[in-house]
Parts: sequence; structure tokens; C-alpha cells
Amino acid sequence: MNILVTGGTGFIGSHTIVELQQAGHTAVAYDNLCNSSTVVLDRIEGITGKPVEFVEGDIRDQEKLTKTLKDFDIDCVIHFAGLKAVGESVHKPIEYYDNNVGGTVKLLAAMRDAGVNSIIFSSSATVYGEPTKLPLTEDMPKGQATNPYGRTKGIIEDILSDTQFAYPQMNVVLLRYFNPIGAHPSGTMGEDPTGIPNNLMPYVTQVAIGKLKELGVFGNDYDTPDGTCIRDYIHVMDLASGHVAALKALKPEGGLSIYNLGTGRGTSVLELVNAFMKATGVNVPYSIKPRREGDVVACYADCSKAKEELGWEAKYGIEQMCADSWNWQQKNPNGYRDQA
Ligand code: NAD
Ligand code: UFG
Repeated sequence: MNILVTGGTGFIGSHTIVELQQAGHTAVAYDNLCNSSTVVLDRIEGITGKPVEFVEGDIRDQEKLTKTLKDFDIDCVIHFAGLKAVGESVHKPIEYYDNNVGGTVKLLAAMRDAGVNSIIFSSSATVYGEPTKLPLTEDMPKGQATNPYGRTKGIIEDILSDTQFAYPQMNVVLLRYFNPIGAHPSGTMGEDPTGIPNNLMPYVTQVAIGKLKELGVFGNDYDTPDGTCIRDYIHVMDLASGHVAALKALKPEGGLSIYNLGTGRGTSVLELVNAFMKATGVNVPYSIKPRREGDVVACYADCSKAKEELGWEAKYGIEQMCADSWNWQQKNPNGYRDQA
């Protein structure tokens, strides 16, 4: 199939393009490069041996999107493009709603105009809010997101669902990611946050390499076995293969499907830090800090629906995720920037 990958030069998009190409699909990356670099396109080609078509563009540019969908005879869109910094979204709600929600509306209009009926969307476990029951299943009602970024995901899910209802021939797949970490095993591709990382794994790798002094563990007085928060970390390559599985399951007659993409296993902050030290042999100094506002205590997925319906399940464990994140960090201490 011909796939338009919005946000294709970003962390998850780029790893997904590797999996798409290796499964025989043609991927066209569409990105405005606001949080990524074209260096990754060479890295993808270095792994797969196939060049990646790239269109530099914004998802809010409906005309350019429509033209791109037609020019490349696109069968399905995988929609990663968006802003994703939780803290920043609190201070820049207009930018977040404009980019993520407004951009998705433009994308849907372009798809309608170009006659493209299938879309797979990067949603997030954040739409569940504070879990009332664990593990989380897709049929649980959505909860209250604690920040504008999280709310954009819930709103976009509703927009996609309303659009599918109005155009029943459309195929909409909502993939709710848990916590993506890890990197391509080659060490040539990985997560490249700008500035001081907000997320746990990039913070840990930057402490390990000496760029940051110590990790702050946000709270050790939660109601969990070691007092730190629990998340369902998933290897980015597993997440990437989940998208290829979702493509295979697109229904020719149209429909709306929702899948959790996680491992089903919860890992605490301290467990992750210890797994990292074990997998890499590198010490990660840390100290306990106050709780971070908006954090849920524990969040992990029931992934049986994806297994039954998509034939997909995560295969990498936490130590492999740590080893691959570290391999990427060591080989690229400044991310893609040195090569740009
Ligand atoms: P990323 O920032 O690495 O990738 C997003 C890409 O979208 C970037 O390359 C950026 O330049 C591009 N982009 C942003 N706005 C754009 C616009 N208006 N037009 C064109 N391109 C635009 O982030 P990621 O971690 O790869 O996340 C991909 C998607 O998955 C996002 O939608 C994110 O919200 C979602 N998600 C991520 C996580 C996570 O923890 N990484 C968890 C759940 C969901
Ligand atoms: N944490 C620390 N210290 C840090 C960073 C994080 O202790 O320096 C802790 C957090 O308090 C949390 C856990 O590590 O308990 C994981 O935090 P992350 O920021 O890595 O991940 P979150 O679960 O908070 O959020 C992530 C994405 C969101 C997404 C959400 C659910 O950042 O975009 O997963 O998918 F919405």
C-alpha cells in the first residue's frame, strides 16, 4: 500500500516507516520539521536500503495535503503529526488546539477531497485519565485528561469517530499508545528531545551519559509496592509493528476500531531505573522529588484485543528497551544534531 505518514520524521513515525518499508509498503513522510530533522531519512534508508519520499509541509496546509495525497496515490494515512509536550501545552493551549485538532480537521478535509478513506491515528493512554480499574481495556469510558495536550487526543478521537459515522465507508483506527521508549536496535535511530527531556527514559539516558547530573524521581509515596508511579513501557519497534498490523486489519467495508498498544506489564519508576542499570552496567544517580502535578498513579494496558484482532503483541522486555535506548544515546550523544 501507499502510506502517507504525517509526522514521519519524528520518533515514532520514523521507526514505523522502517517497519512499513520492510513489510513491502511505500511510505511518504509528511512533516513540517518543527520537532525533527531530515537526517533521519538517511538513517531509515541506511537500515532498509530504500529511499523515503519526503514532503516538507504542515498538516494545516490543506491544499498541499490534498495534492500530496493525490500525487502519491495514497491508500491510507498514518497520522503522527502533532505537538506532544504536556507541560508546554498548559502554557500554549491555542497552539496545541490549532496544531493538533485544527491540523487533524484539515487532514480529514484533504482526505475527503482526495478520496482517501483510511486513517490510523496516534492516540494515547492519556485519554483514559486516572484509571478506575486496571488493566485498561478499550471499552472503558474515557476519563478526564489533566492537560490540554491530553484533551487534544480525546477531542481528535471524537472528531474521527464522528467523521467515520458520517462517512461509513471510512476506516478509522485509533491506536492508544502507552509509554513508548527504546530505539532501533542498530542505534542509528531514536528519540531526540529538544532541551531538557520531560519524559523518564530520555532523562535517564542523559543522566547516564553525563549531560544531566541526576534523575529526580517524582514522588515515592504513591500507593504502589515501591511508592513510585507505574507505567506500561513499550519498545518503539513493537509500537511500529503494531501499525503494520493495524494496516493489515483495515476493513474494506469501513469501520471504527480502537486498540491499546502496550505490553500489559506495569513497571515502576524505580524498577525502570534499576533495569536500566542492570542492562547497561551504568550507574544512574537519582533523588526523590515531590510528586509531579497531573501524574496518574498507575497505568497499564490490557492488550488482548490487539492480539486477537490484529495478531499483534509486544515482544521486547524492559531490559531490551533500556539497552536499545542506551545504545542510541551513546552512539548519538547529541541526537541527530551533530549530523544535521
Ligand atoms: P515527535 O515530536 O517525535 O513526532 C511528531 C512529528 O510531527 C515531528 O516530526 C514534528 O515535526 C511533526 N509535526 C508536528 N506538528 C506538525 C504539523 N503541524 N505539520 C506537520 N508536521 C508536524 O513525537 P512522537 O513521540 O513521535 O509522537 C508521535 C505521535 O504519537 C504524536 O501524535 C504523539 O502525540 C503521539 N503519542 C506519543 C507518545 C510518546 O510518549 N512519545 C505517547 C502517546 C502518543
Ligand atoms: N518521571 C520521573 N522523573 C522524570 C520524568 C518522569 O520520576 O524526570 C516519572 C513520572 O512522574 C511518571 C513516569 O516517570 O511517573 C513516566 O513519566 P513520563 O513523563 O515518561 O510519561 P507519562 O506517563 O507521564 O506520559 C507519557 C507521555 C504522554 C502520554 C502518556 C500516556 O509523555 O504524552 O505517556 O500515553 F500522554
